[in-house]
This record gives sequence, C-alpha cells and structure tokens, in this order.
Amino acid sequence: MRKINIFDTTLRDGEQSAGVNLNLHEKLEIARQLERLGVDIIEAGFPAASKGDFQAVKQIAETIKGCSVTGLSRSVQSDIDAAWEALKGGAEPRLHLFIATSPIHMAHKLRMTPEQVVEAAVSAVKYAKRYFPIVQWSAEDACRSELPFLAEIVAKVIEAGASVINIPDTVGYITPKEYGEIFTFLRNNVQNIEKVSLSAHCHDDLGMAVANSLAAIEHGATQIEGTINGIGERAGNAALEEIAVALYIRKDYYNATTRLNLQEIKRTSNLVSKLTGMVIPANKAVVGKNAFAHESGIHQDGVLKEKTTYEIISPELVGVQSNSMVLGKHSGRHALRNRVEELGYTLAEEEINKLFVRFKELADKKKDITDDDLVALIFEEKFDH
Ligand code: KIV
Ligand code: ZN
Repeated sequence: MRKINIFDTTLRDGEQSAGVNLNLHEKLEIARQLERLGVDIIEAGFPAASKGDFQAVKQIAETIKGCSVTGLSRSVQSDIDAAWEALKGGAEPRLHLFIATSPIHMAHKLRMTPEQVVEAAVSAVKYAKRYFPIVQWSAEDACRSELPFLAEIVAKVIEAGASVINIPDTVGYITPKEYGEIFTFLRNNVQNIEKVSLSAHCHDDLGMAVANSLAAIEHGATQIEGTINGIGERAGNAALEEIAVALYIRKDYYNATTRLNLQEIKRTSNLVSKLTGMVIPANKAVVGKNAFAHESGIHQDGVLKEKTTYEIISPELVGVQSNSMVLGKHSGRHALRNRVEELGYTLAEEEINKLFVRFKELADKKKDITDDDLVALIFEEKFDH
C-alpha cells in the first residue's frame, strides 16, 4: 500500500477561519493532540505574520518531537529568516514557501510578470536551502494557473532544491477529475518530478475539498494537506479525518494508508471545536453528533440485527463509544423494545404493543423522545389502569 503523509494545517490555514484566534497555550494543546493523532507534519503558523505566531511556531517546534513542524513563508528573505529562527529547534525543520502562479494573482495581487515570479520562487528556494533540510514549495492558486507555466516553474524550483511540491486549490474552484489531471500533467511533463513528493491542498468553496484530495491521491499525490473538522479560510479546508477514514474504509479502492491513529479522531475533533469555538455540524461526516445515530425504524431494525447493514464505519474506529438509536416518529418497535430493556424494564409483548401506540402519539408531537419520556410512558402503561 502507498503511504500518504498527512500535513495538518489546523494551526495555520485553520486558524485563518473568520473569528478564530488561538493563544499560545491553546495552540500547544492542539499540537500535542495532533502528535498523538499521528500526523506527519504540523504547520504551526506563519512566523513572519506576527510576534504571537512566531512564538507559537517556535514553542511548538521545540516541544513536538514525534513529527515534523513547519511554518509558512512568503518568497522573501525576511520571512525565511523569521521562519528559520522559529523552526530551527525542531526535530525535522522544514519550510513551507509559497508564491502565486495564476494570471489573476500575478497581475492583480503580486503585480509581477511570470518571469519575475519564477525568479522570486527560485531564489527563495535557493536561499531557504541554506538553512532548511526540507523545503516545500506551493504554487498558490495553482488550479487557475496555466499548466505549461505551472510545469515550468515546478521544474525550476525542483532544480533549486524543493523536495515537496504542493498544488493548492486556493479558492476551491477545481473538480476532482480536473485536479487529478493537473497531477498527471505535472508527472508527465516535469523533469525529475519522481524525485519529489507531490502534495494536495484543497479548499471547500464548492464542497469538493475531500473529493479533490482523494482524486489527487489517485493521480500520484503522496501528501495531503488539510485541517481537523475542515476548518479554514472561507468555507474551510479539506477535512483530514474524512480523508483518513475514507482511505481506511476504501483501502480496497485507494490502496493507500496513513499513519494516523484513527481512534484519536473524535478526541482531536472535540478539542479543536472547543478551542476554536467552531461548532461541528450534527451531520458532519465521521465526527458529527449524528454520524452514528439511527432514527428510522427500518434502519434501527437493520442495525440491531447486524450493524453493517447501515454502518460502514464503526464508531469505535474513530474513538466514538457507540452508535445511538434516536427514538422519534420514524422509529420502530424493535428499537423501542431495545431501549426499554436497556432502561431495565421487562414488558410483555402485549405491553410493548400498547406502549408503542402511546410512543408514536407522543413522537408526533415531540422531536426526540427522551429516556425520561419513555419511563413516564412505561409507568402509565403498567400502572395507570
Ligand atoms: O490555499 C493556499 O493556497 C494556501 C497556501 C499558502 C499554501 O494556503
Ligand atoms: Zn489554503
């Protein structure tokens, strides 16, 4: 199986979520949990962005020894110097350099010609290589860049010493098929591309970040970047927990694996949600409150007979204690009897049938039937006549 490196940017791109601001102590707590989760690389921040970010990256690099710690840097010497000061105490210092390569960004944001962008990228990589054993280079807005230009600049930064090439879908614009084709194009048109690791970095503006990341893996990417719970700028980044679980559940299809300790997923997700204040939607894949909840009678009956009828992921796999049967108006007799027994009551078949009628009447008026509601109904049924 192919090993896929997991590059976590919860503390950098994730912290760029509107309204999120993590202090040093919170960042360290998340970094320690990411280390327990088993990510390969933690992007701890953007050292040149602020004093706070610099301190956080430095402290994380000096504390975390179970994986590589990196920091983001523009293609300018002052950023690279700041990043080295922050990262040099780390177990495996690596730099994440970026510059935009799309016509829109080069013309309007950078106000540079393509030639100037190539020159800046190459000299930044060469300068960074004086300090850093590993330099990752990202083509910002790669997916709206012209492919021949992308291939040209990638070839030049590889020659200058970059050993990881990242292809960000900065604005979440690409589709899975097109994203895969970019990786294939680069693999077929860039000299020495087989000597570097190819990385995917997807944003979720059109809701395709996870699908795009998986498409990249199918087309040769060996590193995936994303965040826990998919937090990040605008609609967020690719949700790493979804990608890791998809690779695990569909290893028959992807034939690829990560070194994540999947049982730590729920704990990591809860911690990130608590410290960032970003609530996890109930229906969020893998970590949402409803991800392992069954409400309809047909589903509940199936799961009670054999879990795999409606559960492709076992809750224990990701550190969730168990699935749950939510009693509501769609629920059936089987789930009702099961819950009654769990609550410690033994009812005859006749009593269950009557209770079921009362339960359905109540469920038509109320969204969730709680255990207290059920006990009240059982008492009415058993003792009220
Ligand atoms: O989305 C993006 O392009 C980025 C880069 C800085 C890698 O986050
Ligand atoms: Zn990004």
